[in-house]
Amino acid sequence: MGRLDGKVAIVTGAAKGLGEADSRLFIAEGAKVVMTDVDAAGGEALDRDLGDNAVFVKHDVRNEEEWVRVVDEAVSRFGRLDILVNNAGVVEVGNIESQTTDEWRFVNAVSADGTFFGCKYAVKAMKETGGGSIVNMASLASVQGESMFTAYCAAKGAVEALTRAVAVHCAQMKYNIRCNSIHPAGIQTPMVADVPNKVAKAMEQGFQPPAAQPTGETKLGEPNDVANAVLFLASDESKYLNGTRIVIDNTISVTSGFVPA
Ligand SMILES: NC(=O)c1ccc[n+]([C@@H]2O[C@H](COP(=O)([O-])OP(=O)(O)OC[C@H]3O[C@@H](n4cnc5c(N)ncnc54)[C@H](O)[C@@H]3O)[C@@H](O)[C@H]2O)c1
Repeated sequence: MGRLDGKVAIVTGAAKGLGEADSRLFIAEGAKVVMTDVDAAGGEALDRDLGDNAVFVKHDVRNEEEWVRVVDEAVSRFGRLDILVNNAGVVEVGNIESQTTDEWRFVNAVSADGTFFGCKYAVKAMKETGGGSIVNMASLASVQGESMFTAYCAAKGAVEALTRAVAVHCAQMKYNIRCNSIHPAGIQTPMVADVPNKVAKAMEQGFQPPAAQPTGETKLGEPNDVANAVLFLASDESKYLNGTRIVIDNTISVTSGFVPA
């Protein structure tokens, strides 16, 4: 028996990285999944690989009308919506002095606007069928001050705060819809593989990365290290977790003090 048997999910940013890992795990656990992304070639290839319980829809999370279409697709094709993973996200390098207004608007449009639209239309559909679970992909950037990711920190802060507001509203309205956020760091995906380009851009601006992670740990996490937590939050196993955050960073955010000599 799968942990998501009978459930219908939407996963955004599903063509690669964490969204792909979520989609693969959800299908393996018995869900039906509407996978969305701006990367149509990647999404369609994944669709062919995952069979009839998955469908890819090209979708830009910044576009409100497209959100209406995606939620309609989940309900008309699979009959209901139980799970939404607001996973799509982008990063642009820049500190408060160098980040451009266009970069600020782009990063916030994808993470903050996209997550707002997703929650809005998912709640509308989920409350019709007795509830659901929304998982919002934030970042350690909403917890720490990552000076060269100014817009990204702000966008993920918006995602985290929005998560709590949605959770409390749905609890007060007795919709049986939960909403939680996940805050990873250092997971091996195409976004992280692009770090050398980001480092180069930061170095052009006179900044360099630290010599090592504060923990001394240099090993990256795997996409399934996050997908397993997304699965738990999406499933009924986490029915008493609501309006909270899960940090997945192998101690990066809590390390302090002495290190081995
Ligand atoms: N990898 C990490 O270590 C890490 C750490 C913290 C947070 N995150 C967050 O996790 C999420 C997934 O990250 P990832 O590492 O898999 O990134 P990724 O870049 O590897 O994949 C992101 C996917 O989102 C899609 N996307 C981008 N803009 C979109 C848009 N406007 N509409 C729809 N899809 C869009 C991309 O095409 C891509 O397929 C992001 O929100 C990211 O900020 C990742």
